[in-house]
Amino acid sequence: MDLLENEAELVEKLCKRIKIKKERVKTRVLDVGCGTGKLGIYISEKIECDVRGIDPVEKNIEKVRKNSPQGKVKFEVQSAEKMNFTNKTFDVVVSLKALHEMANPEETLRESKRVLKAYGKIFIIDWVGGLAQTKSHAHAPKYFTREGLEKVLSEIGFTDIGIELNKGGELMLVEAVK
Ligand SMILES: C[S@@+](CC[C@H](N)C(=O)[O-])C[C@H]1O[C@@H](n2cnc3c(N)ncnc32)[C@H](O)[C@@H]1O
Repeated sequence: MDLLENEAELVEKLCKRIKIKKERVKTRVLDVGCGTGKLGIYISEKIECDVRGIDPVEKNIEKVRKNSPQGKVKFEVQSAEKMNFTNKTFDVVVSLKALHEMANPEETLRESKRVLKAYGKIFIIDWVGGLAQTKSHAHAPKYFTREGLEKVLSEIGFTDIGIELNKGGELMLVEAVK
């Protein structure tokens, strides 16, 4: 599945920063708000890892299963705000253009921290709030500003928070450590 021009640059950076384990156990990656699976499938094709994706919309998951026919990536109907995974399951949590669609994004970030292993990483790509480029979008009021997302992540207990923008400046890649 093709990445859009505005997201490709940040997705490439994200892929390069996922640490691949040398042991037999693969790096475990969770894509929250996977929609039709674009990011999870892309990551699984680029790097050697074990990818899961979750989305609460059943028809997205049905479609994504068709997009990933070999079942290489496993997708499940689940809400990111209340996941079924046990604590410390994943090495990496990723999300593409989904955080702003969640009813309670803070809870999603807390849950992400819970399911991450110690020193696991979260990578979020989403629209930047409060900009001329994004203010006409339908979901614009729900976009985090850079500072707002940094504050929430830090309050939840994430550390080493880094934020960078794509060339157009309308999308951010946020990275943090549990
Ligand atoms: C704009 S789409 C992005 C989908 C996909 N990441 C992509 O880039 O193609 C946002 C997604 O967030 C999902 N979403 C909304 N609330 C959610 C929640 N509580 N937990 C997980 N996903 C959620 C929606 O169902 C939708 O698929």
